[in-house]
Amino acid sequence: MKLSKSADLPWWQRAVIYQIYPRSFKDTTGNGIGDLEGILNKLDYLNDGSSAYPNGGIPPSLGIDVIWISPFYPSPMADFGYDVANYVDVDPLFGNLQTLDRLIEEIHKRGMKIIIDYVPNHTSDQHPWFIESRSSKKNSKRDWYIWRDPKPGGSPPNNWGSVFGGPAWTLDKNTGQYYLHQFLREQPELNWREREVKEAMLDVLRFWLERGVDGFRMDVVGMILKDVELKDNPPSSRTDPNLPSNDIFGRQMHLYNEDQDEVHQVIREFRKLLDQYDDRCAIGEVWYEMPRWIKYYGESGDGLHLPFNFRLMHLPWEAEAFRHSVDGLEGAIPSFGWPNYVLGNHDGTRLASRIGTAQARVAAMLLLTLRGTPTLYYGDELGIENGVITQDLMQDPQGFRLGLHKTRDFCRTPMQWNSEPYAGFSKVEPWLPVEANYQERNIEVQSDDPSSMLNLYRQLLWYRCNTPALVHGTYRPLNVDHDCCYLYLREHSEGSRLVALNFVDQSHTISIPDGGRGEVVMSTYLDRAERVSLSNLLLRSNEGIIIEVNS
Ligand code: GLC
Repeated sequence: MKLSKSADLPWWQRAVIYQIYPRSFKDTTGNGIGDLEGILNKLDYLNDGSSAYPNGGIPPSLGIDVIWISPFYPSPMADFGYDVANYVDVDPLFGNLQTLDRLIEEIHKRGMKIIIDYVPNHTSDQHPWFIESRSSKKNSKRDWYIWRDPKPGGSPPNNWGSVFGGPAWTLDKNTGQYYLHQFLREQPELNWREREVKEAMLDVLRFWLERGVDGFRMDVVGMILKDVELKDNPPSSRTDPNLPSNDIFGRQMHLYNEDQDEVHQVIREFRKLLDQYDDRCAIGEVWYEMPRWIKYYGESGDGLHLPFNFRLMHLPWEAEAFRHSVDGLEGAIPSFGWPNYVLGNHDGTRLASRIGTAQARVAAMLLLTLRGTPTLYYGDELGIENGVITQDLMQDPQGFRLGLHKTRDFCRTPMQWNSEPYAGFSKVEPWLPVEANYQERNIEVQSDDPSSMLNLYRQLLWYRCNTPALVHGTYRPLNVDHDCCYLYLREHSEGSRLVALNFVDQSHTISIPDGGRGEVVMSTYLDRAERVSLSNLLLRSNEGIIIEVNS
């Protein structure tokens, strides 16, 4: 399927992004870990490049436009690739640069785009830059990282904590100084105030831009600059009493360790560089609350194209809360900005486990009909739930440090391709266990079931791509007298759509005064196509519908 041709919007505004966690997508080498060749083998599943859609049948492939691949760079894998030892190569575990070149080519052949992860905040402690930097206080790369003397008495230079628990500083006995790492001690932080660091890291972007990647997902990009004086953070006023005792990070207000105003200057430089190339895109992992978050779009469209919007992942599954969040974003976004929504990723819990598989279908309709670019996490299109991870199966360093309940392994289990052993992901036992019910929940089985979650996603994606109202129509919420339902209009001159979502397991009849009539074009149950009166609109339990209305 081709990216929708609404030519007046850039591709990253028309697109649906699909995140692949490469360790967990498809193993072709027989080591239980996914690889780039595996992604290549499965491209037709994501998008076969055809524009045919058998009338009344099921779209031939998922119809994804953009693939974002989490890190595949050479790495000791202390944080499964987010500890990069070489920014411009591929880890042999995943393939090599030639495999990646083929992947870029094949993705482009199918009319898709490729976004890769860029990890600017920290390297691996095995990166040659850090090996040099730690070798002596006089080394020319010493200032490429953030080194400080101990406080009198020997304690760390300030009170900052690591996201993964414990202090954010490790003492290097050899040179007698501490270095900063807000994640693992194996992830020392680069000093972006050092001109040479910035130049080297801009060169990394150039390397990949020249190789043909279409954009970057910039890892914890708001963290790259810290307070010049590295001042202590004050304690947080809203600390969860159940935090593990070593969670120093969770107990602080993050005033000085991240989100400093100067970061926007660097982001402008990223943007300037990208703008020298044809049609590229910068996405950022940015967690902050409004109004700080919105600043990542830049002051006049000179910032990130899409600062990831994770808000919906953390809300209670309630219609009011969702409407409030979407309305808040729509109201705050500058005229040059474009909204985006994320419901799942490799750091959270599985969508279907958070809200249940019945409501996960409603969530699919929400994600693919809001105004803005949706990001879909691999496996959510099947309704994969959190994996069953016991202490002895745990892999994630965050879980080892903060406790089993914090492991991100839950959402990183292998993709479920078919009913063969290990769900067709691998011929050998995978690095994380496949879901126990994979024989019922897999791509092969769901492809054959016309009403499956997978076929709902396929039809939604197809419909979205071919419906201008859903790609670039305006967004207008409707007030209804049932606060467990969320209704909005996507208005467009070529025909508007009404989306009506029932967030609960109970049916409701909604009345839209003067609503007239409309045509239900899709239900999350995939069983409904009928003319309805909007003054008497039945939403079954756990149902979402799209209605074609006259504009
Ligand atoms: C980001 C990544 C996460 C990683 C961390 C450190 O939050 O999404 O997976 O552990 O950065 O790089």
